[in-house]
Amino acid sequence: MTQTLAIIKPDAVAAAKTGKILAHLEAAGFAVRALRMTRLGVPEAEAFYAVHRGRPFFRSLCAFMTSGPCLPLVLERADAVAHLRTVIGATDPAEAAAGTVRKLYAESKERNAIHASDSVENAAREIAFFFPEMERVRLGG
Ligand code: CMP
Repeated sequence: MTQTLAIIKPDAVAAAKTGKILAHLEAAGFAVRALRMTRLGVPEAEAFYAVHRGRPFFRSLCAFMTSGPCLPLVLERADAVAHLRTVIGATDPAEAAAGTVRKLYAESKERNAIHASDSVENAAREIAFFFPEMERVRLGG
């Protein structure tokens, strides 16, 4: 078993899609190993998305991510990082495959319902970011 980090984003929480998205992820074989609701502050959002600093959408992305509560969660299954990327679909819901979380629940390329770690290394960093108390477990592709 391996782990990855997801965030159910403020647009999906505000639209009362949290339960449907969690059910979708569980039906896809993920076990929820940690979950909390939080509202990010701007410094936190900027730190989490530091890799995107300098991109044209960075300020808007951080404003959106701090606009309301979100739900970071740790998900576990075999091949968690790659599998979750498939299950959530492309960044832009217009390009996401049918049946993916973003095709079903995202509003736009920015307000796209869910975040998922894009590599095993980032999964480790992102899990530690939101759940520093979690014991390190095996992480993998
Ligand atoms: P996420 O998977 O959380 O990773 C970075 C986020 O930036 C992405 O989802 C989108 O919410 C946002 N994003 C990425 N590209 C764009 C873009 N071109 N325009 C607006 N937002 C974007």
